[in-house]
Amino acid sequence: MDKPRVAGMTATLLLTLFIVTAAVAQTLRPAPVLHDLAGRDECLMCHQVGAMEVVTDVPETHAGWQSGTCLWCHHPNSPMRTIDPPTIKHDIAGRDDCLMCHAPGAMEPVPDTPDNHEGRESTHCRMCHHPAD
Ligand code: HEC
Ligand code: HEC
Ligand code: HEC
Ligand code: HEC
Repeated sequence: MDKPRVAGMTATLLLTLFIVTAAVAQTLRPAPVLHDLAGRDECLMCHQVGAMEVVTDVPETHAGWQSGTCLWCHHPNSPMRTIDPPTIKHDIAGRDDCLMCHAPGAMEPVPDTPDNHEGRESTHCRMCHHPAD
């Protein structure tokens, strides 16, 4: 095979890979809640696996997550619907108490949690923030 042809095939392959990766990343975004939220705080009452036949079940990735967390990701204005949260670049061994350092004002050089994180506990952080590698 001549070189330009191989290069062309490689480019096509890379493009395909890019499109497939982009499509997968897209499906991992949380769907927005489109229904009225009034009187519907207990999301799991309807969305728990098997709770109501016609309602979409929470996927397996959600095991153990409480109703109070759902809107952090599924609110139509949630940043999780459009951006990837910053990764944890540091070692996490022995650092389970994230807020000890990241609570606003806790430690001068440590980046503070933003205002929209109010009410989130250290046990919640890794639902969204994952180690860099
Ligand atoms: C009274 C039952 C009920 C409660 C409570 C409820 N939902 Fe729903 N939800 C529904 C129904 C019915 C639909 C539409 C059918 C479907 O897509 O499952 C729906 C749809 C959704 C969808 C779209 C799913 C999809 O397939 O695109 C999301 C996301 C969602 N709800 C999240 C929530 C969140 C978050 C809460 C809590 C704040 C909540 N729901 C509370 C009944 C409920
Ligand atoms: C950390 C972000 C996050 C939180 C918190 C969260 N979700 Fe999700 N949810 C997602 C993502 C991302 C998906 C799609 C990928 C997947 O299946 O995990 C999803 C998928 C779903 C689906 C399936 C929608 C569909 O179109 O198939 C339902 C229903 C749902 N979530 C409901 C809930 C409920 C109820 C809660 C609270 C108990 C909740 N989610 C909490 C991120 C989140
Ligand atoms: C002992 C203090 C300490 C603890 C505990 C700690 N961190 Fe950090 N974290 C830091 C410091 C310092 C930085 C900034 C320098 C760096 O990235 O190493 C940082 C950076 C981060 C960043 C990057 C922020 C950005 O803007 O890029 C995230 C995300 C993060 N930490 C999440 C966590 C999570 C989640 C936990 C708990 C599992 C945690 N941290 C526990 C000190 C801490
Ligand atoms: C539901 C998902 C979610 C959860 C849970 C969550 N975060 Fe975040 N975090 C984000 C997103 C998205 C951003 C990007 C900023 C924004 O909200 O627009 C962010 C930003 C940050 C930043 C960067 C602030 C900066 O200025 O660079 C830090 C630090 C952080 N989070 C720490 C934490 C800690 C500590 C916890 C647990 C107490 C936590 N996060 C829980 C989604 C989440």
